[in-house]
This record gives sequence, C-alpha cells and structure tokens, in this order.
Amino acid sequence: MTTTVLITGANKGLGYEAARRLGGLGWKVFLGSRDEARGREAVEKLAADGVDVVLVQLDVTSDASVAAALEVVRGHTEHLDVLVNNAGAPGHAVTPSETTADELHAVFDANVYGPVRVTNAFLPLLRASENPRVVMVSSAAGSFGVMLDPDQPVTKMHELAYSSSKAALNMITVRYAQALPDVRINAVTPGETAKHTFAATDMNQHKGQLTVTEGTDSLVRLATIGSDGPTGTFEDRLGSIDW
Ligand SMILES: NC(=O)c1ccc[n+]([C@@H]2O[C@H](COP(=O)([O-])OP(=O)(O)OC[C@H]3O[C@@H](n4cnc5c(N)ncnc54)[C@H](OP(=O)(O)O)[C@@H]3O)[C@@H](O)[C@H]2O)c1
Repeated sequence: MTTTVLITGANKGLGYEAARRLGGLGWKVFLGSRDEARGREAVEKLAADGVDVVLVQLDVTSDASVAAALEVVRGHTEHLDVLVNNAGAPGHAVTPSETTADELHAVFDANVYGPVRVTNAFLPLLRASENPRVVMVSSAAGSFGVMLDPDQPVTKMHELAYSSSKAALNMITVRYAQALPDVRINAVTPGETAKHTFAATDMNQHKGQLTVTEGTDSLVRLATIGSDGPTGTFEDRLGSIDW
C-alpha cells in the first residue's frame, strides 16, 4: 500500500524539501499551502520531477480550512500514515516587555493551535494507518535546556512569542505521545543544536548555515520510523536534544 503524508506549510522552505524527499521515496504527498497559487506552483514543480502530489489548500489558523483540507485528503485516501505539522510563523521578534497579547495570539494560532487543530482533525485518518506517525516541527528556541545555556546565541535574542510557542508545542508533543500510544508522535528541530546551526530559509532571511536538505534530516528520520520507533522524543539532526 502506498504511504501517504500530509505536510503543512509545504509550498516552500523545509516543508517543500520534506515533500520532495518523502515524495522521492514513492510516497503520496498531500502538500499543504495556505495560498493556493503558491501551493500550485510547488505541486507543479514536484509533479514534474515525478512526485505523486496533491495540493491541499490549508491555513492552519482556520478551523474551516482544516475541515475542508480533511475532505480533500479523504477524497484520495482512506488512511494517512504521516502528518508533518511544519507550518510556522516567526512573529515579529518583539522583546518581552513590548509583546502584546495580539502578537502572542497570532504566533500561537499558527504554531500551537494550528498543530492541535490539524492533528485532531486528521486523527481518524491517521488511526486508519497501520503505522501512524506525527512529526511536530518545533525549534531549539522552544527548549528550556537550550534557553538556559548561556553559550547558546539564541538566549541573547530577547523575543517572546516564537520561543514560547515552540515550548508549548514541545509540551503538546509529550502530552499527545502519552495519550496516544498507538501513534508515534515526535518533535524535531531542523538545526544542529550543539553546533548552534539552523537551516537557511525565508524565515531567517537565509542566514542559516545548513541546507534545507540537512535541515529536514531529523524530520525525514522521524517521518520514516517503524511502529517500534520512538515516540515523545525531541530530536535535531544529530540526535536527541534537551527539552
Ligand atoms: N529554518 C530553520 O532552521 C528552523 C529552525 C527552527 C524551526 N523551524 C521551523 O520549521 C518550520 C518551517 O519553517 P521554514 O524555516 O521552512 O520557514 P519558511 O520557508 O518561512 O516556511 C514557513 C511555511 O509555513 C507556512 N505558514 C505560515 N503560516 C501558515 C498558516 N497559518 N497556515 C499554513 N501555512 C502557514 C508558510 O506559508 P506562506 O508561504 O504562505 O507564508 C510557509 O510555507 C516552521 O515551523 C519553523 O518554525 C525552522
């Protein structure tokens, strides 16, 4: 049976690279994109390279969009093997003392409520798989271990919304993994935390030191685990990292 994967925010960056790599394994890829035109462009590129890919218009901040996306995927398959909650919003790098509730809300809507909306909506399809997996694309910025290490450059960036949203996503990953032992649910960060590196994408104005292929190594590793694979872990390109 063909392996199926839905990737949110897959029109560019790490999501697109994950679609390219998992599609290259012969998987059927449901490519999530909040913007239909950007998504179509990505789908056309992948299809030209032989990937079995379906465009799914999906804004993770909208219940209606998530419900419509579920219907699209259901029209193609009775099971979803892998869900990659990749879509993410960086926010505006506002300092803690200047952060408004609106700023927090917008970032949490995409990075925290989004993965919960999408995971819960797709859970019945995931449970129809023999080996359901969910990959939460988090960040080292959401790790207490990293943020309490003064040698980590990210501790000097005085920002609130993005880092706290990814910390929340980490706890959400743990709570899902505990509650759903039949599903492998893991968090990944695209970088190499010990080396202070991350992947060059639009989100960081391409300042990252790693390629998107390197940045998706942890994502692809946890998307392709067997039913005896880990659950409730947090990994980067080099292995497990501190929560
Ligand atoms: N690059 C890194 O090294 C790094 C490090 C740590 C964590 N991450 C995480 O990796 C994930 C991918 O980021 P990236 O680096 O690949 O950045 P990117 O190139 O900016 O891609 C972000 C993707 O998320 C989508 N998105 C944003 N809000 C959305 C929404 N409401 N609904 C659906 N899609 C939405 C974007 O769509 P549009 O094109 O429409 O804006 C885009 O497709 C994010 O969760 C990010 O926090 C990245």
